[in-house]
Amino acid sequence: MGAPGGRLRPEGGRAPGPPAGTDPDLRAALAVQLARAGCVAAEEEAAELVGAAADRTALAALLSRRLAGEPLAWVTGSTRFCGVDVAVDPGVYVPRWQSQALARQAARLLPADGVAVDLCTGSGAIALVLRSVRPGATVVATEIDPVAAACARRNGVAVHLGDLDGPLPAELARRVDVLVAVPPYVPAGALHLLPGDARVHEPLAALVGGATGLDVVTRIVTSGLGWLRPGGWLLLEVGTDQVAAVHRLCADAGYGRLGVHAGEDGEPRGVLARRGR
Ligand SMILES: C[S@@+](CC[C@H](N)C(=O)[O-])C[C@H]1O[C@@H](n2cnc3c(N)ncnc32)[C@H](O)[C@@H]1O
Repeated sequence: MGAPGGRLRPEGGRAPGPPAGTDPDLRAALAVQLARAGCVAAEEEAAELVGAAADRTALAALLSRRLAGEPLAWVTGSTRFCGVDVAVDPGVYVPRWQSQALARQAARLLPADGVAVDLCTGSGAIALVLRSVRPGATVVATEIDPVAAACARRNGVAVHLGDLDGPLPAELARRVDVLVAVPPYVPAGALHLLPGDARVHEPLAALVGGATGLDVVTRIVTSGLGWLRPGGWLLLEVGTDQVAAVHRLCADAGYGRLGVHAGEDGEPRGVLARRGR
């Protein structure tokens, strides 16, 4: 789990003069402020802030929220994930670029008329990608946080509010082709290693998976077998240093075929496990 946006330190100050819109000088001036505040993608962020603001007053308010360290997606109201626009309400985990490869892999494994479940859906980003790549498939999601569930619903995701697989419709048992999740997996003791804007702003329940980080992951590995059809796939994102342990968990649980999921940067970022051979 990386940062939800560039690193920033508060700097204060007001947005510069010209009206919001396509003014390149305005964007450049904002980019300088953002860069000075520690933002690593200052020009792109400046363009996004200008694009999201109706006028100069609104732009000043958005800029000061960003300079105070709020994730960019909360400030602008949305982010792009696998080319799909995803609304992200304040308080909701911001989908990370690192999870895009998992979403694409899940879409590849999902038959055109198949059934997919996105556990821990947050804003619904992965479910949205599955639906956009496989419009004929059935895609359902679950989420425990009512704020995130409302956000996913606003994004058009069929989300069931509740704990992991608990709220899934019983008729999906042993019919699911793809069960995907980016669960909370940060060990409680490693929270301090996360970038400040994630640690300070995002809900702990979206990040931390107990002492080892694997509390939620372990439950998903166990319960997944009851939902997957024979030949169906479980795809889980975890930390690179957790991949071997989760691989073992899946083998011990009785999954037949196992693989390591690599992210866009080639780093091991998760586990794929198939029910049966
Ligand atoms: C790391 S975020 C991932 C969100 C989304 N999949 C994404 O990639 O943007 C984990 C999400 O799981 C939710 N969550 C945590 N524990 C859960 C549980 N027991 N049941 C369902 N959702 C849970 C959190 O509220 C959070 O939205």
